[in-house]
Amino acid sequence: MAAVRGAFTNKLGFILAASGSAVGLGNIWKFPFEVGLGGGAAFVAMYMIFCFLLCFPVMVTEIAIGRKTQKNPVGAFTALGFKNWRFIGVFGVLAGVLILSYYNIIAGWAFGFFFEMVQGNFDVSNNFGVFTSDIVKVCIYAVIFMSFTGYFVGKGISGGIEKLSRILMPTLLLMIIGMVLYSLTLPNAFEGVKFYLIPDLSEINISIVGGALRQAFFSLSLGMGTLITYGSYLSKKDNIVSSAAYITLTDISIAFIAGLMIFPLVAFINQGDMSAVASDQAGPGLIFVTLPQAFATLGPTLGALVGGGFFLLLSFAALTSTVSLLEVPTAYVVDELGITRTKAVLFASIFIFIVGIPSMLGNGASEFFSNQFKITGSTDFLSFASKMTDTMLLFGGLCIVIFAAYVWKKENLNAELANGYEGYQHKGISKYLDFTISFVCPTILAILLVLVVLSNFFGINFF
Ligand code: PFF
Repeated sequence: MAAVRGAFTNKLGFILAASGSAVGLGNIWKFPFEVGLGGGAAFVAMYMIFCFLLCFPVMVTEIAIGRKTQKNPVGAFTALGFKNWRFIGVFGVLAGVLILSYYNIIAGWAFGFFFEMVQGNFDVSNNFGVFTSDIVKVCIYAVIFMSFTGYFVGKGISGGIEKLSRILMPTLLLMIIGMVLYSLTLPNAFEGVKFYLIPDLSEINISIVGGALRQAFFSLSLGMGTLITYGSYLSKKDNIVSSAAYITLTDISIAFIAGLMIFPLVAFINQGDMSAVASDQAGPGLIFVTLPQAFATLGPTLGALVGGGFFLLLSFAALTSTVSLLEVPTAYVVDELGITRTKAVLFASIFIFIVGIPSMLGNGASEFFSNQFKITGSTDFLSFASKMTDTMLLFGGLCIVIFAAYVWKKENLNAELANGYEGYQHKGISKYLDFTISFVCPTILAILLVLVVLSNFFGINFF
């Protein structure tokens, strides 16, 4: 069975692929603008607390369920003998389809910006709306990106996803560190660092708490069974707890470093005035609008090099995430319908591309999809889909911990975690995980989920 489904070569391969899933647009595109909208360092502090307190235990649980059952997120619950809980997996697959449908569009923008930068077309940032509403261009880039994604997923686990991550993850890290060192040397860089790192606790309100939680789940690829799927390809000899710790730390570190790369650039462009981050340049356009202006000041050659490098880096980060998003429905179709991986990839990617059409049209090309989705406080379809899926991930995470602690039962979870971790039951970390999975995660996630839904969908804010 394992030979047919594929498997990671070793623990490092798994960690790199799962970190590749975690590190993506969420870290480099979304994290900085969420920090900007969320008032800076207060958001960063809350995001980190959520990662350790809530996300790490959910991640351990997801990987354990996957490895125990060697199944996709839907099949996993059936394999454990709890068919009624399959809805968690179904919900996860749906969330994955919806996330990839719009994620692929933004990844396509990043890839398109790479070409614009290397041609020295820095003006594209002043005309970002023109770029995103050029449906032919956006569609071509989205098709290219989905094709790359499908190609690597089609190649399987060790020969496709793992190989890609082994090359791209270290490359990405070197590129980001290079960019940070460069941006810290720019005039006014320190103002950006201050905004990013010195918290103003008076800024905290429910939308910021909810934003930090949603960001933590999205960034760590939790709540939709990606890590159930990746865990299903992990060997019984490998230590799940330490792998999850490495993945969490890698993801947090890269998000943190991405902030150190972007805020000094923003401060440089605005001559030290960071108020713009929370106003006109805020939101999804932050890196697409602000950064090319910084690259332009470097002159045509250096600007093309640094700007091209940045957007190539962003595309690489996105690719290791899109492959993980496509792997979930692919594994589902392969496991449950028994069709070949190639056919499953083809079917899933075409279907998801079609689901993404409203998001593609919703950035200027169509008045309806660009301005009529007022349901979540957003106006366009892409932001609406993104808020929907963020909420679905929280719901998924909540259901997964409740399932593991009270339905599958802690003893079974612990027995799975002890594979590859000798003496696990007697370690302090097992007490921490027991306590967080049974009490802290269900309670805090349930409360915050209700508050986030009330705030996002009904405009009711308690603080
Ligand atoms: N974690 C990815 C990012 O930060 O860009 C996005 C993502 C990938 C979310 C896979 C969810 C997922 F299952």
